[in-house]
This record gives sequence, structure tokens and C-alpha cells, in this order.
Amino acid sequence: MSYRTILVETRENVGLIILNRPDALNAISQELVGELAKALNIFEADDEVGAIVLTGSEKAFAAGADIKEMQGKRWPDTFVDDFITDGWERIAQCRKPIIAAVAGFALGGGCEIALMCDFILAAETARFGQPEIKIGVWPGAGGSQRLTRIVGKSKSMEMCLTGRMMDAEEAERSGLVSRIVPAASLVDEAVKTAQLIATMSRPAAMMVKDVVNRAYETTLSEGVRYERRMFQASFAMPDQREGMAAFVEKRKPNFGGGK
Ligand code: CAA
Repeated sequence: MSYRTILVETRENVGLIILNRPDALNAISQELVGELAKALNIFEADDEVGAIVLTGSEKAFAAGADIKEMQGKRWPDTFVDDFITDGWERIAQCRKPIIAAVAGFALGGGCEIALMCDFILAAETARFGQPEIKIGVWPGAGGSQRLTRIVGKSKSMEMCLTGRMMDAEEAERSGLVSRIVPAASLVDEAVKTAQLIATMSRPAAMMVKDVVNRAYETTLSEGVRYERRMFQASFAMPDQREGMAAFVEKRKPNFGGGK
């Protein structure tokens, strides 16, 4: 498969997707989001791939939806075409663990794509923001919802109302990123983390995503109930037997994918 706006490679059991529109700070065009969705489909279907890393360049993860492409759009076409849905939602629906490795700008739709990933590793150069208000609109790919749930109303409201960017330190303090790593080793560190995840039981890793994400979609008691039921169901998996036997026998588990 050849792409024009992304670079794709496999590093052992990890699928790596690099956003690649350097002249536009990786602004997210329809073509880019379509190619990103295609690459995710291929990695999801590939049994050799256990986790995915999504990254950009040193200067920009992505500076938002492509404003030049959006400029001429009008309602009701945006409504009828369900603009910012096709392709975009594919990232949030990814079932394999996906890490965003962010250096430089992650703005607007770029921040929103990072927020759709399971967690974000940030270089110290990372800057997050929802500056849509400066161009007369507001977040359209989930930023007003996901950012608010993660950093709280006050910070989210200030960022969306003023367009203020958050640096990596503030993002880590606010729970937006899991940790900060040196820019020079960002992608290697993200791939190493993804490789570690890919060595775990595949169904267990996918279920971890499912139960953690449930925390954002339901009440505490329903979420705990769902987690408990899924935990009980883990005892039906060969990987549960292998993982626990390996611990008791003081050896490394040999997970077989659990199918
Ligand atoms: N769309 C299209 N092109 C973009 C872009 C975007 N979102 N962001 C940057 N570019 C282009 C610039 O137009 C410029 O292209 P030219 O050289 O052809 O003029 C090139 O990338 C480099 O950008 P700058 O010269 O502006 O670089 P800078 O370092 O001076 O500034 C920046 C960097 C602060 C990120 C600035 O580019 C900027 O503010 N970009 C727009 C950020 C933004 O508003 N994002 C939200 C978009 S709306 C959205 O995302 C909706 C949604 O919720 C889905």
C-alpha cells in the first residue's frame, strides 16, 4: 500500500504511523485522515501487530484540521456529509492499543486525534491546544468533550475560549500525557512501550482498553460492575491459565494470542 500523506512501517510487533505533510505542519486533510484510517485497518487485521504508535514530526504532531481545505465548506454540506466523522472516528474505534507520540504542535484536530489514542507520550517540545475559536469555530473532533473529561472544566474552558496552548509540563501535571520523554528519543520510547504492550496477552490488552474506556462512558457503579464481569470472563482464556501458571512456575509466560 502506498500513501501520500503518511509514512507507515512495522517495527517487530508494532505498527508505526508517521503523519507526513511537512509543508502544512501535518494539517489533517481528508486525504490524510482517509490514509490514516486505511493504515489502521491494515494494522488491526495483521495478527503480527500487537500495538500501534501514531506520531508526527519534530515540529508538529498535527496543527489541526486543514483550514485551507475547510475554508470553502458550507452548511448543510458539512451536516449532510457528516464532516469530521468518516476516518476520524476510526482512531477512537481502534481496538488494538494505540499510543500517540507527540512532539511540537498538537492543535485542534491534532490534539483531538492524540486524545483519541489510548495514551500520549510527549516530548518536552509538545504543545497542546484547541485554538479553533481564533478562526471562528470550535472543536469538532471531540476536543470539547475528551479534553474536558481529562483536564477538567476550568482548564478546558480556558483553552477552548482563548486558544491558549499547554506545554508538556502542564499537560503532564493535568493528566493529559502519561509522561514526558526527550524529543530525540520520543519515537523509540513510544515504540519500546508499544512493543512491551504487544508482548502481553492480546485479548487481555484489548480488554484493558475496553474496561478503562468504559470509565469515560458510564457511572462508577456500572463501570465497576462491567470490569468485574469482564475480569470473571478472563478465566475462560487460555492466556489466563498460561499467565498464572508461568508466575507459579517462575518462568516467562508464553501467550499464544488467546484465540
Ligand atoms: N491547516 C492548513 N494549513 C496549516 C495549518 C492548518 N491547520 N496549520 C499550519 N498550516 C500551514 C500554514 O498555512 C503554513 O503554510 P504556508 O507555508 O503555505 O503558508 C505552514 O503550515 C507553516 O505554518 P506557519 O507558517 O503558520 O508556522 P508557524 O510556526 O508560524 O505557526 C502554528 C505554527 C501556530 C501552529 C500556526 O500554523 C497555526 O496557528 N496553525 C493553525 C492552528 C489551528 O488553528 N488549528 C485548528 C484548526 S481547526 C480544527 O482543527 C477543527 C477541528 O476541531 C477538527
